[in-house]
Amino acid sequence: MVKALDTGLAGYPGTAGESPLRQSCANWVKRRYSVKLNPTTQILPVNGTREALFSLAQTVIDPAQPGASVLSPNPFYQIYEGAALLGGAQPYYVASVPERNFAVNWDSVPAEIWAHTQLIFVCSPGNPTGAVMPLEEWRKLFELSDKYGFVIASDECYSEIYFRDEPPLGGLQAAQQLGRNDFKRLIALTSLSKRSNVPGLRSGFVAGDASIIKQFLLYRTYHGSAMSPVVQAASIAAWDDETHVVENRNLYRAKFAQVTPVLAQVMDVKLPDAAFYLWAQVPQAWQGRDDVFARELLQATAVTVLPGSYLARAVNGINPGQGRIRMALVAETAECLEAAHRIADFCRQARP
Ligand SMILES: Cc1ncc(COP(=O)(O)O)c(C=O)c1O
Repeated sequence: MVKALDTGLAGYPGTAGESPLRQSCANWVKRRYSVKLNPTTQILPVNGTREALFSLAQTVIDPAQPGASVLSPNPFYQIYEGAALLGGAQPYYVASVPERNFAVNWDSVPAEIWAHTQLIFVCSPGNPTGAVMPLEEWRKLFELSDKYGFVIASDECYSEIYFRDEPPLGGLQAAQQLGRNDFKRLIALTSLSKRSNVPGLRSGFVAGDASIIKQFLLYRTYHGSAMSPVVQAASIAAWDDETHVVENRNLYRAKFAQVTPVLAQVMDVKLPDAAFYLWAQVPQAWQGRDDVFARELLQATAVTVLPGSYLARAVNGINPGQGRIRMALVAETAECLEAAHRIADFCRQARP
């Protein structure tokens, strides 16, 4: 990064990113998913997945079509909703099902909604549930995409933090396994923020369908979102190195192994497939009031958790986040463990 300061700041960077960065991203996809991409046509650097999720929606949604809809899991990362609305479409929320390892219930979507769907967001590993989408779910979504013509935006920014032996299946990998080697209507979004613990760097990339990437690149030249060459230099170093990623994952694993059993004594919580959240049920004494639980906990212990109902939308009177809390285990292990003990003591004492 420091080396790149010498030359990197003197000119405007190209929106497409420098070819060594695209090559590093392609190399990583090859190493991680055994998928070979063309770095010129199938990869585009972005300033983190958040802005890319938002601007991709602007690129692919046609608000002039009546009933333009965007499907989102429920609960969900809030950007999906804003991206749909500001893209001129209506969000349609599809609940995840706790009994099925929080898989999104795509079968619940009526045909008339599918018929108007232009874009769907999927999040695997999921925020807040940590669930990883299996191949069969991908197969279903690809079939639906072929039938109805929507684009799949696959948010995979938690892919490198996982607790099972198998690394999470990626969208590009699933497509390839199902013989979709052109990645038709699929864009995977990934990031260094979680993988390399550098959310402040603002660096990620999107990959997949070359025709969408072409449109997206054009859109981004107006959007003015070229990545700084200084950030590009640091990103190359990060994508090229796996040692720090393994260390980071091991730290998360050790942390979750210590914290989860403490919380499991007082609430229904289990180790997720992946990501860095615990998605727990509030104890029965709070009668499903995740908001009240979070407020009382904060007042009593100064520990912040996010009420699950804030991460979801009520559909037909049911909020699938209701009764749950999301705990982000991003602090150091000792701090997370201390917080877990405080939560456990609070649960035992506040409403025994
Ligand atoms: C599901 C999900 N997607 C995307 C992002 C954005 O990450 P970034 O823009 O840092 O890549 C986050 C950040 O927390 C997230 O939880």
